[in-house]
Amino acid sequence: MTTAKLMLDGREYELPVVVGSEGEVAVDIRRLRAETHAVTLDSGFANSGSCTSAITFIDGEKGILRYRGYPIEEIATEASFTEVAYLLIYGERPSAEQLDEFNRKLTYHSLIHEDMKNFFSGFPATAHPMAILSAMVASLSSYYPRSAIDNVELNIIRLLSKARTIAAFSYKKSMGQPFMYPQNDLTYTENFLHMMFAVPAENYHISPVMERALNLLLILHADHEQNCSTSTVRMVGSSEANLFASISAGINALWGPLHGGANQKVIEMLTRIRDDGGDYDKYVEKAKDKDDEFRLMGFGHRVYKNFDPRAKILKAAADEVLAEMGKNDPLLDIAKNLERIALEDEYFVERRLYPNVDFYSGILYRAMGIPTNMFTVMFALGRLPGWIAHWREMRNDPKGRIYRPRQIYTGSTLRHW
Ligand code: CMC
Repeated sequence: MTTAKLMLDGREYELPVVVGSEGEVAVDIRRLRAETHAVTLDSGFANSGSCTSAITFIDGEKGILRYRGYPIEEIATEASFTEVAYLLIYGERPSAEQLDEFNRKLTYHSLIHEDMKNFFSGFPATAHPMAILSAMVASLSSYYPRSAIDNVELNIIRLLSKARTIAAFSYKKSMGQPFMYPQNDLTYTENFLHMMFAVPAENYHISPVMERALNLLLILHADHEQNCSTSTVRMVGSSEANLFASISAGINALWGPLHGGANQKVIEMLTRIRDDGGDYDKYVEKAKDKDDEFRLMGFGHRVYKNFDPRAKILKAAADEVLAEMGKNDPLLDIAKNLERIALEDEYFVERRLYPNVDFYSGILYRAMGIPTNMFTVMFALGRLPGWIAHWREMRNDPKGRIYRPRQIYTGSTLRHW
């Protein structure tokens, strides 16, 4: 199959067909408007390929997710987060030496400029940490402004490392506790736990169970091809805006409750169900009622139509981690019961709505002592390598163009003032 045929106004047009490495087929409409004066209409871009990309493959029907060809199930159990970040950004698994060097650079770029600490005092104690994170990431561009290629590569390291420091500092700010500086003898994930939970008065012991859970959570969030925030990063980056400005825009896109903000909403929903006496049927009915705004948060996905492989891994991990930590979270039982009831309900079956990554991630974050309003920040830290990989792929594409979709105008026709 090399071309597709389109009939428009009685004329036939031949359109090229592009086939991806996994056999995905796209009708290439890039010349359509020039030849026919017609554009395509696809609200929410549900059926439009905005680019070609060699980073992540998803088959939503089969529940497949692969980073650079590697199945998520293998990566989740065998890799470290920084190894996955390297793989996503540079395209190949790092050798032992390359990984050491990458980790070394991440360690030595973890401090933020001391002046930036003043920004934290300007935010109210109640500030949402996503607001702080996006503002601070955009502000990094004023400290590292040069855009030469070498600097872009260094800025990638800076961003990966410093965003973690900013996230932990924003938590400390909300707690009214002193900032804990990163320590160079700790790994990427250990350092995050140290900056979050250590206090100057005591020695903080980093639990290996917590560290493993954090590693898993970050890996599972690391990339998901052209989702809302990644498309935003590409959109902003396509105007040649700098890396920090582009990623800051992605952080804001992630914040919404239909995207990364869903993990916070899931825990709020489970808490509400618990406080309301655990009446699952009532909430399943509310989710089905089109006059009620309530949706089952953490359910449904634009791409996955049978299961979300990340949710499957996280459900098993939630059981294991809670058992290892000797914790029992009633919200985990509520989540499982809700899932069971919803999956038997015709409404959810017909629409192929399944738990997504956000349904069980919050249970793990809670077990680790991470407060609910930090959940989306955790998602952002995990997604950083994916955003960076897409930004870099787009900027290195010699055929890259500014993103500029068309529209179909439906407003008033000409009238005079
Ligand atoms: N609860 C109840 N009904 C739902 C839900 C839900 N969570 N999700 C979708 N539906 C219904 C929706 O009302 C529609 O019904 P109908 O055909 O009768 O109008 C149908 O299912 C299709 O839904 P849609 O909104 O057209 O699907 P979408 O692809 O535009 O949206 C979604 C996908 C994830 C935004 C949506 O499923 C949703 O709002 N889920 C809850 C929020 C959530 O968990 N978001 C996290 C997504 S995964 C993490 C990430 O990558 O962001």
